[in-house]
Amino acid sequence: MFKVPPVSAERLPGLLRAMPKAELHIHIEGTLEPEMIFALAQRNGLRLPYASVQELRSAYAFSNLQSFLDVYYAGASVLLHEQDFYDLARAYLARAARDKVLHAEIFFDPQTHTARGVAMETVVNGLHRACADARTESGISAALILCFLRHLSEASAFETLEQAGPLRDRIVGVGLDSSEQGHPPEKFARVFARCRELGLRLVAHAGEEGPPAYIWGALDALKVERIDHGVQAVHDAALMRRLAQERIALTVCPLSNHRLRVFPELAQHNLRQLLDAGLAATVNSDDPAYFGGYVNENFTQVFAATGLTVRHAYQLAFNSFEASFAGTAEKRAWEHQLKESFERFVEHD
Ligand code: ADE
Ligand code: ZN
Repeated sequence: MFKVPPVSAERLPGLLRAMPKAELHIHIEGTLEPEMIFALAQRNGLRLPYASVQELRSAYAFSNLQSFLDVYYAGASVLLHEQDFYDLARAYLARAARDKVLHAEIFFDPQTHTARGVAMETVVNGLHRACADARTESGISAALILCFLRHLSEASAFETLEQAGPLRDRIVGVGLDSSEQGHPPEKFARVFARCRELGLRLVAHAGEEGPPAYIWGALDALKVERIDHGVQAVHDAALMRRLAQERIALTVCPLSNHRLRVFPELAQHNLRQLLDAGLAATVNSDDPAYFGGYVNENFTQVFAATGLTVRHAYQLAFNSFEASFAGTAEKRAWEHQLKESFERFVEHD
């Protein structure tokens, strides 16, 4: 293992911003900035129930996950045409590249759009074309993960999977998101089993607000390879041992957890506890347009609030590449770049 060099506390935020990383937990609809909501509403001839960008932004005061989801689904209703999805993903990927994201695995919620009469192929083709053009322009690598909305039925998830069939080669995997409490993973066991047969990679949100039992359920009933959030695992010692032993990555989102009051103060966040227990945690932004920051903001704020060190920084970035669904050769190349970035940073001390 690489021996991580010492870096002063003052220079740590600079290192966090400069180090290469992967982002594995980002909802594309959660990158819809208020300015873009207004621009798309105008382009698509839609009226919004807010008079200004400022008024919309002031509605972003959340008390829990559901209070956020209500606002988030309303915001996504301005997305109608393939070009809207393209513009949204291009804007995110340009922003991510500036944060030294080398690889992004992007969630999208097709049911939010198909329920409004937008075709599955409109969504996927717009996002896919944006990923391809961003790669050509800035070299960033990106893949798409289709998320099923867990507050909807198993039948709706199966119908969504059917609609995605012809676009199978544009999707790397599937996930599970939306309202967690009252919608345990077991509800989607048969859908995930079918996705597994199709060769799709599997992830699920679990243990964001919900209990450790939902993380067990995601592992055993859905057979997921990563857990999105997973911060409630600390309440179950046997689960912590299993996650560490099996190197199941957790895609942790500190600013989201703070804004949705999972941790009322960012200083209370348990990221350090997860890392120090040997879990493969990563840092991600979830819905940055709503939670006050993209991935580098998540890194710098959680490090400042909880006193994480340069050793944790290296581990988090390394974990992000290792837990990605990219091929082995790409992972090794990115991990090499990570090591070099740390060495270069120290040389210029
Ligand atoms: N959809 C978008 N963000 C989400 C989150 N943090 N949890 C569950 N579903 C989501
Ligand atoms: Zn999420």
